[in-house]
Formats: sequence, structure tokens, C-alpha cells
Amino acid sequence: MDKLSTALEGLDATAAMQYLAEQFPGAVAFSTSFGQEDQVIADMIWRASLPIRVFTLDTGRLFQETYDLMDLTRARYKKPFEVYFPETSAVEKLLYEKGPNSFYDSVENRKECCHVRKVVPLNRALQGVKVWITGLRAEQSENRQSLHALEWDESRQLYKYNPLINWTYEQMISYLKEQRVPYNKLHDQGFISIGCAPCTRAVEPGEHPRAGRWWWELSKKECGLHG
Ligand code: ADX
Ligand code: SF4
Repeated sequence: MDKLSTALEGLDATAAMQYLAEQFPGAVAFSTSFGQEDQVIADMIWRASLPIRVFTLDTGRLFQETYDLMDLTRARYKKPFEVYFPETSAVEKLLYEKGPNSFYDSVENRKECCHVRKVVPLNRALQGVKVWITGLRAEQSENRQSLHALEWDESRQLYKYNPLINWTYEQMISYLKEQRVPYNKLHDQGFISIGCAPCTRAVEPGEHPRAGRWWWELSKKECGLHG
């Protein structure tokens, strides 16, 4: 861990991902939700043709605008990304037992939905992966402030590499503008952090960037992907 962190020090995000891909051939994967951070990372990976798998978790409840962005991204880069979908029987069971909107009823129900629609497919996508690349940024939330670019994920037994961990919001926006990277149209309507449609809303200027995620909950707003 220390040796790897030292090797990555001083490398820019693209060079660091290139280094990881060389050290762990065929075992580096990037998860994209097509958020702004993820679009920066995807642009870096595809621009440099890095040998890194790119995948997304289609929960089945995403915004139409997010699906539109998937299409725009396919057209722009002409690079493949894998799409992981929840297990049919698990979704059917959840809908049969609790209906389509159970996530509003309790944190427990919400986590159950996130587990079925995101966490289980994520674990499937990460099989055989030794380095998982994500778009986490420290600024996003208190939980994320203490994270480093390279982390050891004890529960999943893999390295997690967060290339934009120390990037500011402004840095990310300038990259997207300079490289003319396609983005989600919802960002023009006050949305910042975007997840599933029923669980995300726009935020007011000055409000916390994640205030629009699971806005009805008071507790720690994470879905099980990152703790
Ligand atoms: S979440 O835990 O609250 O849902 P967030 O939306 O901040 O996560 O995204 C953080 C990182 O988690 C993204 O940069 C991406 O790497 C990963 N991620 C989140 N949602 C998805 C998704 N639907 N598909 C693939 N990766 C995702
Ligand atoms: Fe279900 Fe909402 Fe979690 Fe999406 S964010 S998986 S709809 S609870």
C-alpha cells in the first residue's frame, strides 16, 4: 500500500491510472454514474486509450437525462462501457413485497433498494478487480474529507483509486468546459450530485452539493457503494 501510494505521488490523474493499469493488467475498472466527476475520468481514460474497463450500474430508476447522456457519451467517444443491471428476481421480490416507492418509508427500506439495485450489481462488476477507480471528491461530503487518492477497501479486498479526490468543483468544471465533455442536462437545472430519479432533486444556490440526494433522510447519506 505505502509503496504503491509513493509510486503514484506526483503523477497526474492520467499517468497514475496508466501506472495502475500496467501494475494490475486486466484488473483495473472504473465505475461511472455519468456524473461530472465521472465524465472527467472517462474522458481521461478514453482520450489516452488506457486499458481500463469502464462500467455503469443502471439501477432501472435513473433519469431520462442520464440515459440521454449515456447515448451522447457513446456517440462522442465510440468506446465501450459495460452496463450492470439488478437481478430480475430480487427486484420483483422487492416490488411484490414493498411496492415501487418503499425507499421513502424508512432508511432501512431505502438501503434495501440500494442494495438490490446498486450494491449487488457493483459486487458482480468488481469480480476479479484489483483496483477500483471512482469519482469521489473530498469536498463532496464530510465522510469523504478524510479519504486519500489511494485507499484499501478492506471489505472488498481491493484498492480504490480516487483520481479527483483533491480536485475542487471549479477545477472539475474548467476541465469539462476546456475539453468540451458531454454533461447531464440536469446540471443546468440546479442538480449537482445525481443518482436515481426518485431519490435526487435540485439544490438551491449555496445549499450543500449532496443536499438533493435522499433529501428526506437526516442520517448519513450513503448507499452502501462507499460505506
Ligand atoms: S453515491 O454513493 O452517493 O451513490 P456518488 O453519486 O456520490 O455515489 O458517486 C460517487 C462515485 O460512485 C462515482 O464517481 C462512481 O464512481 C460511483 N457510482 C455511483 N453511482 C454509480 C452508478 N450508478 N454506476 C456506477 N458507478 C457509480
Ligand atoms: Fe433505490 Fe433510490 Fe437507492 Fe436508487 S437511490 S437504488 S431508487 S433507494
